[in-house]
Amino acid sequence: MKIIIADFIYTPDGFIKNQAIAFNDTIVAIDTPEALQTRYKDAKTHHTEANSVLYPGFINTHVHLEFSANKTALQYGSFMPWLHSVIEQRDTLLASCDNATMKQACESMLRSGITTFGAISSFGTELEVCEQTPQRVVFFNELIGSNAAYADMLYGDFTQRLEASMHCVKNSRITPAIAIHSPYSVHPVLLHKAIGLAKQHTLQLSAHFLESQAERDWLEKGEGEFKPFFEKFFNTSTPVTTIEEFIHAFDTYPTHFTHCVQASKEELEYLINKGHSVAHCPRSNRYLGVGRLAIEHLLDAKFSVATDGLSSNDSLNLFDELRAALMLHHQAPIDKLATRLIHAVTSDAADILRLNCGKIAVGKNADFAVVTLPETPKREEEIALWTILQTKEVSEVYIEGEKYV
Ligand code: BEZ
Ligand code: FE2
Repeated sequence: MKIIIADFIYTPDGFIKNQAIAFNDTIVAIDTPEALQTRYKDAKTHHTEANSVLYPGFINTHVHLEFSANKTALQYGSFMPWLHSVIEQRDTLLASCDNATMKQACESMLRSGITTFGAISSFGTELEVCEQTPQRVVFFNELIGSNAAYADMLYGDFTQRLEASMHCVKNSRITPAIAIHSPYSVHPVLLHKAIGLAKQHTLQLSAHFLESQAERDWLEKGEGEFKPFFEKFFNTSTPVTTIEEFIHAFDTYPTHFTHCVQASKEELEYLINKGHSVAHCPRSNRYLGVGRLAIEHLLDAKFSVATDGLSSNDSLNLFDELRAALMLHHQAPIDKLATRLIHAVTSDAADILRLNCGKIAVGKNADFAVVTLPETPKREEEIALWTILQTKEVSEVYIEGEKYV
């Protein structure tokens, strides 16, 4: 048994003061340091630095490790030029993204307090790194392919990758899962097969959804910037699905939808009512010029804040992302938004990924991130705000009770 003491602990009931946690691989008790030391006489006690806040480990629900080599190769500013640059640079970027690069990406996430991430995997090349990293990884094998002629081949490749992620090394913390690339890039036959597979094996499901106005124009009217794209690369000028058809395919299976920037209020409400959740990627959205997610419609629902990959970001640091969210949603009261965002990257994200972490409560996994503030917060309602504004890296990280930072 171990005991950790912090000036503040972030619990589902808010920040508590001068308390401690007794834990092994899970949280065993939360009480005063004295009470825990009396109860667990042989426990090793650790005092965190002054002005430390103990959080559950932070969760980044959506990242593409395979694109970690991108620095300036991809074109930012607007979605379609970016997508064209991905197609042009993909082979070079993938070839230069070796295990060392992806390991560095995982380590940078760990230093920013991320103890769990959702890896969206296009090719399965990051599986080995995800097996070796200490973090929990929900490994989302991505399915792509709008052309019916290649459907069988693409589905076969997808199921092979899924199988590989189901047979990981024993002590890895991987959960296999499925990602649908997007409504415009996945043929409905493939879509329904994959959702069926997710249901059959109770696998988590994720999909990019309504990321750009171009996507909306294409799905609604078969027009806009996607038209020349599909004519050039796929010799077609008709979308394979509609927005309604795509959403309805997920009706009975809670899914994590990424971006949703161009979703209407009604569409967001529909998703929420069906038990789905949203991954909000503010910097990716800004860098690809796709607009602002109307986060105000999601505040009472479940959403996460995620970095997306280095293919549309400048870091995988979750605090950089949270600061961006605070700037992007400039009309929201800043301390309330900060508190809501911390909830999103802990409790909400764990519920979304169906993992037993993300909350400081008895029985939850002992995954912690210790944030040390530069001085004592003057007003307790601002602790989340100062955490986001003052933190580049956390001072300690624990996963399943083991210390990694
Ligand atoms: C496809 O495989 O159909 C596809 C891939 C990327 C963008 C659009 C479509
Ligand atoms: Fe993504």
